[in-house]
Amino acid sequence: MASDSLSLAMQELKGLTVSVVGLGLIGGSLTKCLREQGVVSKTVGYTLDSNHAKLGIELGAVDVAAETIAEAVSGADIIVLAVPVQAFESVLQEVKPFIKPGAVLTDVGSVKGNFVSAVESVFGDVPEFVVPGHPIAGSEKSGVTAANSSLYQNHKVILTPLTHTDERALSLVDAMWSACGANVLQMSVEKHDEVLAATSHLPHLIAFSLVDTLAGNPDNEDIFRYAAGGFRDFTRIAASDPRMWHDIFLANKEAVLNVLDRFSVDLQKLRTAVADDQSQEMLGVFTRARAAREHFSKVLSGQSYVNAMNTNNVIFNAGAGSALSGAIRVAGDKSISHRSIMLGALAEGVTEVEGFLEGEDSLATLQAFRDMGVVIEGPNNGRVKIHGVGLNGLQAPPGPIYLGNSGTGMRLFAGLLAGQSFDTELTGDESLTKRPMERVAKPLREMGAVIETAEGGRPPMLIKGGQALCGMHYDMPMASAQVKSCLLLAGMYAEGDTSVTEPAPTRDHTERMLNGFGYSVERSGATAKLAGGGSMQAGKIDVPADISSAAFFMVAASIAERSDLTLEHVGLNPTRVGVINILRQMGADITVSNEKTVGGEPVGDIRIKSAPLKGIKIPEDQVPLAIDEFPVLFIAAVCAEGETVLSGAEELRVKESDRIQVMADGLAQLGVRTEVKPDGIVIQGAKMHGGTVHSHGDHRIAMAFSVAALRAEGEIVINDCANVATSFPNFVELANRVGMNVKVNGDA
Ligand code: S3P
Repeated sequence: MASDSLSLAMQELKGLTVSVVGLGLIGGSLTKCLREQGVVSKTVGYTLDSNHAKLGIELGAVDVAAETIAEAVSGADIIVLAVPVQAFESVLQEVKPFIKPGAVLTDVGSVKGNFVSAVESVFGDVPEFVVPGHPIAGSEKSGVTAANSSLYQNHKVILTPLTHTDERALSLVDAMWSACGANVLQMSVEKHDEVLAATSHLPHLIAFSLVDTLAGNPDNEDIFRYAAGGFRDFTRIAASDPRMWHDIFLANKEAVLNVLDRFSVDLQKLRTAVADDQSQEMLGVFTRARAAREHFSKVLSGQSYVNAMNTNNVIFNAGAGSALSGAIRVAGDKSISHRSIMLGALAEGVTEVEGFLEGEDSLATLQAFRDMGVVIEGPNNGRVKIHGVGLNGLQAPPGPIYLGNSGTGMRLFAGLLAGQSFDTELTGDESLTKRPMERVAKPLREMGAVIETAEGGRPPMLIKGGQALCGMHYDMPMASAQVKSCLLLAGMYAEGDTSVTEPAPTRDHTERMLNGFGYSVERSGATAKLAGGGSMQAGKIDVPADISSAAFFMVAASIAERSDLTLEHVGLNPTRVGVINILRQMGADITVSNEKTVGGEPVGDIRIKSAPLKGIKIPEDQVPLAIDEFPVLFIAAVCAEGETVLSGAEELRVKESDRIQVMADGLAQLGVRTEVKPDGIVIQGAKMHGGTVHSHGDHRIAMAFSVAALRAEGEIVINDCANVATSFPNFVELANRVGMNVKVNGDA
């Protein structure tokens, strides 16, 4: 509801009388709250049992106890029907003659279709002044004695107006509930009844039934005596009012039966799984349910999750900090984490992963495979167990696959889904929706895939299953590991060989991991090649710390005076070490020790000490090897003496943001002038002052400006930082631990 019409309605409310017909827990809590808040002129309560209404006065729940319905309704500006759902029609007959012109009628029933039908049968149609409503709050207690003025605080109230419902009436009912601290939302009558059947009515039915079953057991005393937390938690709602629930089930019969039938089928499957020792089936249900429950808890408590994340403006306030010191292990490698789930899911056997990045991007990939029937245990402190289904074992997902912010996820999925027997739709957040997908869709179509993209080759991507793919050779026009990986994954499902030649070396994690899982990828010069129709065997994967996340601390420790910092177990794949090469060329003091190979990937510890940096012309062959590190390398360039020139980096313009322009804009806010080129930037070493910058939802821009604050003359306020959680969820914690100074604010 627009805030101006809501505040007008709040004003009007002050002069109005609210009458509740049926003064029990729900109605009494409403009037008690309205009284305490002083937001209406008068509250009136009516119940069949006049003693109850008088009790309402004693308890401070209402101002006036009406003796008759006529008395309650005739003076009311807002009439709230809080009677059992089966009583609507008869109560409406009694109420109708006394409704004064301009009055508003609403209700609190748990079923909206049945209220609307009752109104229609009494009035002939649904008058404009009727606003069906339902507060999603309650307790197993009942009666006005249980009235609680904070019952609706932070609870949802659903209003289900019809197309012709009067705007003023709707605003007044909205204002009344909002005044009680409720979050008021609107949906259609049908939608409401479907949603409630699934989320409220079915759970009550099951709770009543389970307790009844157990109570009918001859050993029931023992069962109840020893019943512990699980039983108590699960069956609390079986103590709810039986008559009320009887009425609700009759009123919402059809929607309840639909969801009950679905549940019965699934329960029967689970019975079979238990009877036949089907571990996969059981683990599948339990891990999916657990993940869904965690997801809901986060959404309910207003925290972030894959698809709820970047709706809030998380602000970083970054300050000067001190010398950086200590030894830390940064988050797991994002590229390898994605691939560990993808290849583990398509391998035969159980893949165990350690060091998995529990960031939103890789979690979205994990969830996508769960949705396609793969059993995945964890993540638990970076440990994940994937029960692979083999190359042809995926099942159609129940709906579109949501990949959040992840370009890697979308492009790699496009390749492997092009070869499946079922259709899929790939979607993502606002930033992902702007990124180019034609770079994968075009070559995949040449292999025989059927793919639709939205305007301009952007997501969502619709991928038609059941296509026979043909291997081919592709000369990549841009240096992209995502495009290369996409085509190799599709190539596993294609007839014959698929080969990709890259214009410059790009990260080769896909090739390494495929080889590690026994799917041979040949490398000859700039070309990677595989044959379709192979298979993979599960293995162990140790995900190293992400050099792209380590890069923030490499620059930070270089530019903050007297620093000496060690970053442990960092991935040092030669296709990723551009940042070390570039920083060393700029004069950074970086040493690498403890070098070894884990699971086919080189790793080592990186020690960085502060050093004076100088500007350089960045060699173009290093660009693909440091492609994700440029935002923070730009900060190094500002802190260096002289000029740094970057060219051959047009790909930066199509990352999570246009990283050349967004960094230049942010630096300008800090008093640093740069020269922006189509494929790069020229940066002069300069002093930075404090200021406010915008990350445009790009995690790496947010972290780069946090590092900049180490050398700025004032605080840097960085807007839109929620997406840091996509690649480096504990960035702020680690940053503060080693001596940086970053505070998280905003409405996260
Ligand atoms: C990635 C490849 C790179 C990189 C991205 C991760 C990958 O993208 O920027 O963060 O995991 O394959 P491009 O392939 O588009 O260069």
